[in-house]
Amino acid sequence: MPAAACLQGKSPGRPEMAKIRVKNDGIEIIVPDGSQILPFLWEKTSFPQGCEDGSTPICACVILSGVANLNHKTQQEIETLHRAGLPNSPRNRLACQVWLMKGEIEIEY
Ligand code: FES
Repeated sequence: MPAAACLQGKSPGRPEMAKIRVKNDGIEIIVPDGSQILPFLWEKTSFPQGCEDGSTPICACVILSGVANLNHKTQQEIETLHRAGLPNSPRNRLACQVWLMKGEIEIEY
């Protein structure tokens, strides 16, 4: 690898990495950019298991920081959160519908 590439901290062919900070568990999880967060939460925390399709809000969580690093909500996610009595705030999400595109987020569940 050319020295210039090393100094920039990037390697050709390697995915860029993002970070999920989980307030409840006091941990950080490193994931590839563009990852769905739910599988990593299940692997590393006691995050509840549910439908995985956005239809029941057992995976509701609050994004404490980094909302801009996430995919946008689908209409189904908005409707499920609404049925659960949660306001349509960018901070309220269903973890099964969240992809971390880059950077860092902090969540609480
Ligand atoms: S696991 Fe059911 S909405 Fe996410």
